[in-house]
Amino acid sequence: MNNEKVPTHIAIIMDGNGRWAEQRGFPRLSGHQAGADSIRECIEVCGKIGVQYLTLYAFSSENWKRPSAEVKGLMDLLERFLRESIEEMIHQEVRLCAIGRLQDLPITCRHLLEKARERTASNRGITLVLALNYSSRIEIVDAARRIVQAVQDGKVDMDQIDDRLFGNYLYTQGIPDPDLLIRTSGEIRLSNFLLWQSSYTEIYVTSKLWPDFRAADLQEALNDYGRRRRRYGKL
Ligand code: IPE
Ligand code: IPE
Ligand code: MG
Repeated sequence: MNNEKVPTHIAIIMDGNGRWAEQRGFPRLSGHQAGADSIRECIEVCGKIGVQYLTLYAFSSENWKRPSAEVKGLMDLLERFLRESIEEMIHQEVRLCAIGRLQDLPITCRHLLEKARERTASNRGITLVLALNYSSRIEIVDAARRIVQAVQDGKVDMDQIDDRLFGNYLYTQGIPDPDLLIRTSGEIRLSNFLLWQSSYTEIYVTSKLWPDFRAADLQEALNDYGRRRRRYGKL
């Protein structure tokens, strides 16, 4: 693959776990469980081909509205994923961080995330960004509040506020905008994910359900991306 065409940052809306399970007559949670293997495979492939950032939409702020048993199951899976994958991530030089209103996650998840972040902070490989309790609109509102505060404190001048400064107040501060956004399960919408950051992102939608999305599917998305011509409004 032409190196220039490897996206620096891939973001994925991992959708379709529930339908994957329903199609097999399994409980929805088994779909989420199966999705964990797709996550591991994508991290490995992205790391190998030199993708620098991989952002995974794992739990949206709207997902709290699901039945409490599913929410609890998802949080338990997150904990399990963090416990079971940490050594592998260290071995693969993965650096882990998270975006979203993390303060509202269960305390054990927060501790495990913090521990994983600390233990992987000096790793030199791919940065894995987990979007947890994430809402793009809340992120933008949070940024606006913090900027207003900074203006009130005299740390920022009104005239300094531009899109670059604004971006530095988002959870994704320091992370380049995604080059490629993948959504599985055929839904053609953003569902409140990286609205600001995806202004010029190439979008790829596949009908594959997330637990079925594996290395070959990722390669297909990358090939598709490689054929795109990004114009950024220019000719
Ligand atoms: C995506 O799968 C995972 C989360 C949203 C946490 P879904 O659970 O949304 O699966 P479908 O869309 O119902 O099939
Ligand atoms: C988006 O999927 C959120 C995650 C993948 C975590 P949803 O299944 O929640 O999105 P909608 O409800 O179909 O828009
Ligand atoms: Mg869904």
